[in-house]
Amino acid sequence: MNMDDVARRGLVLLGCGKMGSALLDGWLKGGLPAASVWVLDPAPSDRLQKTGVHINAGLPDDPAVALVAVKPQMMGDALPSMQALGGGGTLFVSVAAGTPLARFEAAFGAATPIVRTMPNTPAAIGRGISALIGNAAASADHIALAEALMGAVGQTVRLDHEAQMDAVTAVSGSGPAYVFHLIETLAAAGVAQGLAPDLAMALAKATVGGAGQLAEDSAEDPAQLRRNVTSPNGTTQAALEVLMDGENGLPKLMARAVAAAAARSEELSRG
Ligand SMILES: NC(=O)c1ccc[n+]([C@@H]2O[C@H](COP(=O)([O-])OP(=O)(O)OC[C@H]3O[C@@H](n4cnc5c(N)ncnc54)[C@H](OP(=O)(O)O)[C@@H]3O)[C@@H](O)[C@H]2O)c1
Repeated sequence: MNMDDVARRGLVLLGCGKMGSALLDGWLKGGLPAASVWVLDPAPSDRLQKTGVHINAGLPDDPAVALVAVKPQMMGDALPSMQALGGGGTLFVSVAAGTPLARFEAAFGAATPIVRTMPNTPAAIGRGISALIGNAAASADHIALAEALMGAVGQTVRLDHEAQMDAVTAVSGSGPAYVFHLIETLAAAGVAQGLAPDLAMALAKATVGGAGQLAEDSAEDPAQLRRNVTSPNGTTQAALEVLMDGENGLPKLMARAVAAAAARSEELSRG
């Protein structure tokens, strides 16, 4: 199965909020015909209505894909609407945080191919990263199709075990919020040093955005990029001595933050 099959047989999108609409925008931009998409959502946005997709118009007979993008807590209400698609012909893809493959297998049967993915919010600008894992019924073709679908909003990586999803959630799923907080705290620290708030925020945003892009684009790893801008006894070194402190610095703080998120993810997926 590939994107041509999706165009021919159709795709059902269950839930068209922030993540669902980011994906839909990516697919339509990538050439998927609007007539191939069936959206189910109780409150379709004006923007969605203008796309030309089918909205709350039932289900096609044999869609290639059903993509689940409702909040985890809405799953119990939402999944029964897709019951008819279980059993094998339709690939299910879920972007729901903390909802295990077993939950979908219980709803649709273990013969149903299901790929669970964890995207993140930069998907809204096509700069997300999604980790994927399939159930036993998901073939290499199914995984490749799920990758193509998630690739519409950024990079993709494959996992070996579903248990890795908790760590992925804690690093890249929740990670954008850590970076937003870094921007907030860097700007506030600039204000404490006498800069006007707007100026400090402009400096902090561009610094994090620019350094993030440089880290992604560069052939050198982030540790080397850091060394490259740290002159002996200079200003950067003075700051890094505080940030990299073994006891009170960022390494331990970040490890604790990520461990807390991973533990919470594990707890949520146990239900
Ligand atoms: N946003 C992200 O960056 C992100 C990142 C990783 C994973 N995810 C996952 O993506 C999923 C969606 O998150 P989101 O941020 O896009 O949430 P969202 O903006 O609240 O979108 C969910 C959409 O589903 C609709 N919905 C609710 N019940 C439904 C039902 N029974 N049938 C069909 N549609 C229904 C909601 O409509 P109403 O608003 O009218 O209830 C809403 O439009 C979640 O499971 C989340 O874990 C999101």
